[in-house]
Amino acid sequence: MLDIAVFGSGRGSNFKAILDAIADGRLPETRIVLVVSNASDAGILDLARAARLPYRHMSRKQYASEESFVADMLAALRAAGTNLIVLAGYMKHLPAPIVTAFRHRILNIHPALLPKFGGKGMYGSRVHEAVLASHEALTGATVHVVDEVYDHGPIVLQRTVPVLDTDSPESLAARVLEMEHHILPEALRLVAEGRVTVADGETHVHIRPV
Ligand code: GAR
Repeated sequence: MLDIAVFGSGRGSNFKAILDAIADGRLPETRIVLVVSNASDAGILDLARAARLPYRHMSRKQYASEESFVADMLAALRAAGTNLIVLAGYMKHLPAPIVTAFRHRILNIHPALLPKFGGKGMYGSRVHEAVLASHEALTGATVHVVDEVYDHGPIVLQRTVPVLDTDSPESLAARVLEMEHHILPEALRLVAEGRVTVADGETHVHIRPV
């Protein structure tokens, strides 16, 4: 069983995509054991409450030191039996000791074709504004394994989305988000079925022929 902790900062539509995939049987090997948000009023926590799932509001501001913040986060993840962390719209940099403790067991979804349009400051609508400003014909969504560098690490799945002449950042974000909602559950299914291996910094995904 893949026991996942989902981290998010906002509305939680990618988390909802995971919930829906579990509910309709597309992720038979996956359970959500914890939902974490740095924002007490985040939609993702409302969704967790409605689904009666364990959740925590965890923000660095609640702790006297970085060490106590990290120790409590690690304790919560371990107590829940987490074996994979999913960053689904988490806008904070995950502390390095968490990345070390869950090496190759953290996924992130990003609303662009990494390594393009990633890195510090590249989140939310800023990503789509940058894509439009550089007149790209294609953008997309990426699920990757998280390492210490922001929006960096081996790619598990990536799908393209066309950029239209008529697009605004909002219309482009909506088209990309729809693709995110497909590839995040799909990436989790590949991981749950043991079809993603990370070796020497490269991800080898064995996708069944269609
Ligand atoms: C998603 O588009 C996600 O890819 C993006 O934030 C949005 C969260 O939406 N993440 C980043 O930009 C991280 N670098 P959601 O809360 O509805 O899932």
